[in-house]
Amino acid sequence: MAKGIFISFEGPDGAGKTSVLQKILPSLKQGFGNEVLVTREPGGVSIAESIRDLILDIKHTNMDDKTELLLYIAARRQHLVERILPALEKGSLVLADRFIDSSVAYQGYGRGLDTAAVTWLNDFATDGLKPDLTLYFDVDSEIGLARIEQNKDREVNRLDLEKLEMHQRVRSGYLKLAAEHPDRIVTIDASRPLDEVAAEALLIIQQRCLKN
Ligand code: TMP
Repeated sequence: MAKGIFISFEGPDGAGKTSVLQKILPSLKQGFGNEVLVTREPGGVSIAESIRDLILDIKHTNMDDKTELLLYIAARRQHLVERILPALEKGSLVLADRFIDSSVAYQGYGRGLDTAAVTWLNDFATDGLKPDLTLYFDVDSEIGLARIEQNKDREVNRLDLEKLEMHQRVRSGYLKLAAEHPDRIVTIDASRPLDEVAAEALLIIQQRCLKN
């Protein structure tokens, strides 16, 4: 049985989840007695980072949707086994920048693949592991894409180059997931300034996961 706490950060591109994570990290490190692991998907370990390069390469415009899904899931499996599970077994607080919900939102709702199949494949790859808490950073797709445009330091990947309609489908997919899993997924309005969004995210984690 895992002893740690597992929190995933989810949202459409440009929602600011990675910036929020970095902003609240010092407080979480201070408030949590054990090790805090920050990691990301796709990636987080060498094999999964190589898969990330393959999936997100802007040259790979001919990548089939199911190939894309399977590569994300392969990266997830390797990352889980090599990084997340050992950290949870040690009692760490694991903060994952994306996890299973990204597959359902992007490849399921975004690409139009069967969401039941996407969910089943994720369950198979993760042995059914779910985060204790998922923070979903919700932002209008046009605002998200405008933020990406403005942030010249951020890598531009193949998914960023998708049309607005795909990003809108991803967002509505996330909203459906949040409605279906109210016990696990908490929605945060990420259209507000970063400081406000980060303060709310920190409070939710403190109340739901660090209260003892
Ligand atoms: P990032 O920009 O948050 O690092 O994520 C990289 C891109 O990969 C982002 O556009 C979301 C996408 N993605 C999926 O489409 N499916 C997945 O399962 C994951 C983890 C990410």
